[in-house]
Amino acid sequence: MSNFELPVEIINHIQKSIKKYPAGREQAAVKSVLMAVQKHYGYLTVQAMDAVAAQLNMPPMSVYEIAHFYSLYRLKPCGKNELAICTNVSCWLRGAEDLLKYASELLDVQPGETSEKYSITLKEVECLAACGQAPAAQINGRYIGPLDKEKLLAWIKECD
Ligand code: FES
Repeated sequence: MSNFELPVEIINHIQKSIKKYPAGREQAAVKSVLMAVQKHYGYLTVQAMDAVAAQLNMPPMSVYEIAHFYSLYRLKPCGKNELAICTNVSCWLRGAEDLLKYASELLDVQPGETSEKYSITLKEVECLAACGQAPAAQINGRYIGPLDKEKLLAWIKECD
């Protein structure tokens, strides 16, 4: 059994969040609570997810599933900046794999890794629901599309 405890501000966030839902439906607050935890720690640890599960009366596995399903959650320490490139069908057809390879070479990292020089974490993600802007990406949570090598290079230089 872990001695880990969520900080008071997260507990307050949880209390406030669950009041938005009918009694017995506190699990509906899980995504918002995970975002608050991620904002506090920078990423989601297993201990923190377990504590969230306990607070929301959820099985820990359900919290892990949500955290792993949505690409906006971070499961390990990341850089100051985040580049998430979608490689699903619409984006793949418009050159996303080539862009991902280009980013990987520029940053000298593989998807899932963080470039020390630029403090950029490169992520390959599933559909961002921005297929009309393919190839789509998110830079620090902001949608960019269509992304091309020039835009990518310009942004990476800004991070230097
Ligand atoms: S396939 Fe890339 S945003 Fe939908």
